[in-house]
Amino acid sequence: MSNQKPNAPEQNNVQTFYEHPALDRLTGHYTVEWENSDGTQQIKVHNRITDLEGHAPSLFSLMRLPKVVKSYRDAKRHPILPEPVPFLVLDAIEFLEQKLEPGMRVLEIGGGNSTLWFLAQGCEVHTIEHSPDWAEHMRGFAEERLGSEACERMHLHVEQGEDAIAHIESLDEQSFDIVLVDCMNEFTWRKDCVRAGRSKVKPGGWMCLDNSDHPNNWNAAELMLDKERIRFTGWAPMCSVVTQTSFWQM
Ligand SMILES: C[S@@+](CC[C@H](N)C(=O)[O-])C[C@H]1O[C@@H](n2cnc3c(N)ncnc32)[C@H](O)[C@@H]1O
Repeated sequence: MSNQKPNAPEQNNVQTFYEHPALDRLTGHYTVEWENSDGTQQIKVHNRITDLEGHAPSLFSLMRLPKVVKSYRDAKRHPILPEPVPFLVLDAIEFLEQKLEPGMRVLEIGGGNSTLWFLAQGCEVHTIEHSPDWAEHMRGFAEERLGSEACERMHLHVEQGEDAIAHIESLDEQSFDIVLVDCMNEFTWRKDCVRAGRSKVKPGGWMCLDNSDHPNNWNAAELMLDKERIRFTGWAPMCSVVTQTSFWQM
């Protein structure tokens, strides 16, 4: 990021502009722009080797780059990987792996390979997913590959926007070990998910926000400023750019 950090968007109105799309996508030259009450805000990105806040990827993530490239190719053919892993920064997956124990309760907004991975770890998984087709796809994979015991631990809700947020708000306070916010902002804004979801995390549990470097999600991260942030920058499965996953312990 070339200039001082501008103020976060106040709504989901961030746009990305490429001057020479084909070349700029390759080299990572683009402008991310949004309007807020201060006027037009933008960041200019000049490379593909840092996240949008200018942090470099970890060595751990760099060394696993071939694995990321393979997952990218695999996911083009099978959006649910033969061995599902969350589409989070690799270091964040490792971090979660160390925290998870069978029986833990996970709430995730935005489901996918992560849902199936949490199930495979023995967790009880509550997923709020905007797409009915994608939810069916996940359910089919779970039934076929993980079996009936895992399916009983899978609680899949097809909801978006206000309905999704009302659902989160209706859940018991401090009842989840992990809340993962990883939905598509155009359907359910991540800021609203963090606002509604943070009180649902048990004391000692974790709030996790993926793509926390993206301006669209800055205001979600700002809701957690009172807690210490653990930030991982690097590559994630199926993601062609360096990104960031953040955790906060409650
Ligand atoms: C950022 S993704 C969620 C990723 C998920 N939490 C994971 O780590 O696997 C946001 C949305 O994209 C869609 N999605 C997830 N995985 C996908 C895939 N492999 N291919 C296509 N769409 C996917 C779902 O509708 C999901 O709610």
